[in-house]
Amino acid sequence: MSKSLFERIGEENIYQLVDDFYAGVEQDELLRKLYPEDLLPAKNRLKLFLIQSLGGRRTYTDERGQPMLRRRHFQWKIGEKEAEHWLKNMQTALEKATFAEQEKKEFWSYIYNAALHMINQ
Ligand code: HEM
Repeated sequence: MSKSLFERIGEENIYQLVDDFYAGVEQDELLRKLYPEDLLPAKNRLKLFLIQSLGGRRTYTDERGQPMLRRRHFQWKIGEKEAEHWLKNMQTALEKATFAEQEKKEFWSYIYNAALHMINQ
């Protein structure tokens, strides 16, 4: 059987990616105000979610239940502008990442579509 994207990227790289993404969010005026004061638990949620959705262990669902991410995001107004900022920070983190281009491409395609799906206004 072929390896999942999670196995090919590896947990360490996902951790690094999420840390770098959140370092960007911290500096992003538009996004920062949407996020909670303490970003540490939020980082952990995104790490566990990505591990699960890319084919790894299902700790996210054990801890948080079914993702239903679009619904969870209804509490924030997410327009094209917010999605654009979110993706920009993810792109910057991805450029910095050291895993292979093929996996970066696949990850980007996944996350880009997911971000568009989160637009709710
Ligand atoms: C499109 C722009 C997006 C905006 C503005 C946005 C904003 C937010 C905010 C403000 C939070 C709260 C942070 C926390 O306390 O966990 C959050 C949570 C979360 N976001 Fe997003 N998000 C976006 C897209 C995405 C995408 C594309 C994904 C994944 C593919 C994602 C995955 C998550 C996850 C897993 C959580 C934690 C949910 C939970 O368990 O409560 N978000 N998001």
